[in-house]
Amino acid sequence: MRTLFGLVLLGIALVLPRGALAETPALSLSFGGKTHAYTAAELLARADAATIKIPDDVTYKRAMTYQAVPLLALLGDVDRNVDTIEAAASDGFVSQIPMALVRKGAEGGSIAWVAIEDPKAPWPNFAGKDASAGPFYLVWQEPQLSGVGSEQWPYQLASLTGVESPAHRWPQIAVDVGLPEDAPARRGQAVFTVQCMPCHRMKGGGAADVGPDLGQPMGPTQYMTDEGLRRLIRNPASVRTWPEQRMPGFDETKLSDEDLDAVIAYLAHMAPGAR
Ligand code: HEC
Repeated sequence: MRTLFGLVLLGIALVLPRGALAETPALSLSFGGKTHAYTAAELLARADAATIKIPDDVTYKRAMTYQAVPLLALLGDVDRNVDTIEAAASDGFVSQIPMALVRKGAEGGSIAWVAIEDPKAPWPNFAGKDASAGPFYLVWQEPQLSGVGSEQWPYQLASLTGVESPAHRWPQIAVDVGLPEDAPARRGQAVFTVQCMPCHRMKGGGAADVGPDLGQPMGPTQYMTDEGLRRLIRNPASVRTWPEQRMPGFDETKLSDEDLDAVIAYLAHMAPGAR
């Protein structure tokens, strides 16, 4: 039976022309139950496609010029009443971007753009890697205006999906309701959601699988020293190194000292058995 099944699969594989499974890259937008997959050509042909300059690109760490379409306009046809845009990259990185942050772009805040890699003029590869930020990349003009975080620039973007807010979707990531409004752990939850959740889950809550869950089976504050954990977040390579190392360091420009304290307070608060 197994062999027969195997032969059938082999048959299918032989019949399909090579490359038939490799599709033209497309950016999938799913809002209000409707999904549309945009190709690069389709986006580049839009009337609102523009050439934009990003003087301080978070990913390339230098000035970049892109062909891009404004995210708000792109969402124009879909339901703008969603709370959060889940921006998923092809490598498992998933940023939860509040719609309110995107909307600020229309009121003098940072403007979000979907940058499109033109196959005829590809973007540079990352240093030492065989890949660029393409085919699609979410970039921000004047990110400082709205306090856009370094992990809110998803590259190798594959889809944008309208979803509910993270704490609503995954109640297990929330701190105790009884914590005071100004408790560091409460602020830490917000920091974690923006800067850590694109790669890490908390007690299973979250959509990313790039790094380990930081809330189970043990919390990092239970098996790392305070000093070690701080150093790991600021500069992982100062704690341990290996070729596959993927966690970025968060220096003071990406994570203030107060935010670092807050996220550690959150990890301690969320550690199993801590409350
Ligand atoms: C771009 C993805 C990414 C982001 C963003 C990220 N991490 Fe990580 N993190 C990883 C990966 C991957 C690992 C596993 C080790 C490695 O490859 O560097 C890791 C490992 C860790 C570890 C060590 C866990 C262990 O037991 O080995 C801690 C603690 C940690 N991250 C905390 C954080 C915190 C706190 C934030 C937010 C301020 C954060 N990370 C943001 C990808 C990320």
